[in-house]
Amino acid sequence: MPNWIWIFIILAGGLFVLKMAYALSVALVLPVTKGALYVSTSNVRIAAFMEAVPMKTAQLLVDLGCGDGRVLRKARKTYGVRAIGFELNPLAYLSARVACLGTSSVEIRFQSFWKADLSKADIVFCYLFPDVMKPLANKLRSELKPGAVIVSCNFVLPDMVPERVLRPGNSLHNDPIYIYRIREVKAELKR
Ligand SMILES: C[S@@+](CC[C@H](N)C(=O)[O-])C[C@H]1O[C@@H](n2cnc3c(N)ncnc32)[C@H](O)[C@@H]1O
Repeated sequence: MPNWIWIFIILAGGLFVLKMAYALSVALVLPVTKGALYVSTSNVRIAAFMEAVPMKTAQLLVDLGCGDGRVLRKARKTYGVRAIGFELNPLAYLSARVACLGTSSVEIRFQSFWKADLSKADIVFCYLFPDVMKPLANKLRSELKPGAVIVSCNFVLPDMVPERVLRPGNSLHNDPIYIYRIREVKAELKR
């Protein structure tokens, strides 16, 4: 057989194995992720929300379902924040671990974010799925500290009013990005 046929078979076989691994890893966690597939946020959208939400070095950013960890790496690089990502999809988790090798202060946890305590987070990022947004809103409201910022790509948090809605640039990246803030408790109310 000519060499080019071997090369074609190897490339097509590799692609097939990758596709199967993707489908399998998505199917495996579907009962928990409820439709939030392993799809990455584009760099244009990440840059847009990072410009709108300035962060301080001492702050903690959490990505609920971090995929390959790109949001965490970008935030670390841009603002020097500490960053934690939760991921259950084995393929996404491995990609994130590999991609974040050598990036300090970025931690990837193979864990469902539903079991995580988010009380120390200053900024929470998520790009999930409508079915989980209602329970997620309840969790965020009960756990996050006053002043914490939530960034939700594409999907609203029911019963919460966004502080800002971004629609980054061109039609490819134009889906809304909702920015919420947990209300500060007014000093006089505390008294
Ligand atoms: C649309 S992707 C977003 C990836 C990344 N945040 C980004 O914006 O590039 C959603 C990810 O959330 C993960 N996920 C969904 N529910 C999860 C859960 N309960 N715990 C951990 N990860 C979860 C999925 O496996 C998937 O990789």
